[in-house]
Amino acid sequence: MNAPLSEIPPDIIVIGGGPAGYVAALEAARLGASVTLVERGPLGGTCLNRGCIPSKTFLRNAEIIEALGQAASRGIRIADPSFTVDLPQAVAAKNAVVAPLVAGIGQLLASRGVEVVRGDAALRSPREAVVDGARRLAAAKAVIVACGSRPAVPPIPGSDDPRVLTSDTLLDLTELPTSLVVIGAGVVGIELAQVFRAYGAAVTLLEAEERVAPFLDAELSEALRQSLARRGIAIRTGVRVSAIRDAGSGLRVSVEGASDLPASHVLLATGRVPDLAAFGALPVETRRGFVAVDDALRASLPGVYAPGDANGRAMLAHAAAAMGAVAARHALGGRAAFDARQVPGCIYGAPEVAWVGLTEAQARAEGEVTVGRFPFAANGRARSAGHTEGFVKVVAGARHHELLGVHIIGPHASELINEAAALRNMEVTAEELADLIHAHPTLSETLMESAAQALGRCLHLPSQR
Ligand code: NAI
Repeated sequence: MNAPLSEIPPDIIVIGGGPAGYVAALEAARLGASVTLVERGPLGGTCLNRGCIPSKTFLRNAEIIEALGQAASRGIRIADPSFTVDLPQAVAAKNAVVAPLVAGIGQLLASRGVEVVRGDAALRSPREAVVDGARRLAAAKAVIVACGSRPAVPPIPGSDDPRVLTSDTLLDLTELPTSLVVIGAGVVGIELAQVFRAYGAAVTLLEAEERVAPFLDAELSEALRQSLARRGIAIRTGVRVSAIRDAGSGLRVSVEGASDLPASHVLLATGRVPDLAAFGALPVETRRGFVAVDDALRASLPGVYAPGDANGRAMLAHAAAAMGAVAARHALGGRAAFDARQVPGCIYGAPEVAWVGLTEAQARAEGEVTVGRFPFAANGRARSAGHTEGFVKVVAGARHHELLGVHIIGPHASELINEAAALRNMEVTAEELADLIHAHPTLSETLMESAAQALGRCLHLPSQR
C-alpha cells in the first residue's frame, strides 16, 4: 500500500470510537491538538451499542416487571396483573435509547473539530495507519489505539450454533428464549440472566469457579447467589461445559459429571478478548493476550498508546474513558497516569452490586482490618421503597481506620459506590465517614452507618454488649 499522503497529518490519530477512543479524541482536541478518529462501526463502541447502555435499558424492564409484582402488597390493585414481553418492541425501545447517545458523541466530536473517518484502520508503522486498505493517515505526534474487545468464544464443541449467543447478539434477539443456559457467572452472565429470567425464560447459570462473580468479596458473592436464586435462576458453580448439541427443536448442554441441560438458547458469557487487528503486522508486546502498557497507557511501540479494553487492566467503560483521557494528555506532553486501584466496579440488576478497593480477604492478606456492615433492611429509605435486600460492608485498617475497601449489595449500589470511591481516594478514615452528616432519609446513610459499625459505635444497630 503506497498511496500518497494527501493531507496535513493530524497531531493525533485515534483508532476506535468507544469510551476510551472518543474521550481520548475529545481530550486531545480540548488541549489544542488536531485529531482524526477512525471508527468502523457506530460511535460509542461496546458500551453504547452492545454493552452498558443496552443492558441497562433491558434491566429497567426487569425492574418494571418486579415492581408490578410488588404493586398489590403496596395497595395498588392492577385489574389484570398478567403480562407478556414484546421483545421486538423492547429491542426497538433499547435502540431508541442508544441512537441519540451515539449521535451525541458525533456532535461532541464535531464541536471540537475532530475529523471522524469511517472505516477499518490498521497500523502500518507506529505513526501511520491505513484505512480500509486504501487511505493512508499519518500522525505528527501519537497514535492512540483504543480498539476494544469482543466476547471470548470458548472452545466448546457446538458453540457455532446460531442459537448459541454472545452479549453482542442476545441484546438484539427478537424471539424470546423459553430456556436460557448462561455459561459464565461473571458480570455479563449475571446481568443478562436476570433480564431474561424477568422476561419469563427458565434460566440456568453455569460457572466454572466455585462462586458466582468470583472476583467479588466472598460475602457479597454469596449474598448475590442467594438473591439470584430467589428470583428463580438455577445456579451451578464448579462446573465445566463439555459440549452443546443440536437436539432438533432445542439445544442440549453437556456438563461434565452431570446430566445434560435442555435449552432453547445458550449465552456465552465467559469473558472478553481484545481485538488487536488494529495493530496490523506490528509486533506490539502483549501480556496474557492483552496489549502491555505502562501507567501512561504507552504500548511497546514508540508513540503508540493503548487505553481501554485493549490492555485488559480494567475492562469497564468508565476505566476506559479515564484511560483515554490519560493517554491523550500524556501524548501531548502532559503528566498523567492511570490508577486502576481507584476504579469502582458494578454489577447491575436487582440487587445491584458495587465495590471499590480491596475485598476483606485481600485486605487481611496485607494486615489487620476492622469490618463494619449495615443492612438495607435497617435503612428507612430502602424500606420505604421495599428494597430491603443487601448490605454495605466497609473494610478499614485496624490501626488507622483508613478505608481499604467498600462493598455494597443492594438498591442503587452503583450510585452509592461513587461516594465511597471519592472518600477512599481522598484518604478519608472510617471516623470521618461515620461523622459525615448524610441527608435523611437516603440510602447513602448506610455508608455512614457501616463505617460507624466498623468502629463499634453504630447507634442504628442493636448494641452487641
Ligand atoms: P467475566 O470475566 O466477568 O466473567 C466470566 C466468567 O465466566 C468467569 O467467572 C469465569 O470463571 C467463567 N467461565 C469462563 N469460562 C467458563 C466455562 N467454560 N464454563 C463456565 N464458566 C466459565 O467476563 P464477562 O462477564 O463476559 O464480562 C466481560 C468483561 O466486560 C468484564 O471484564 C466485565 O468487567 C465487563 N463488563 C462490565 C459490566 C459492568 O461494569 N456492569 C457489564 C458487562 C461487562
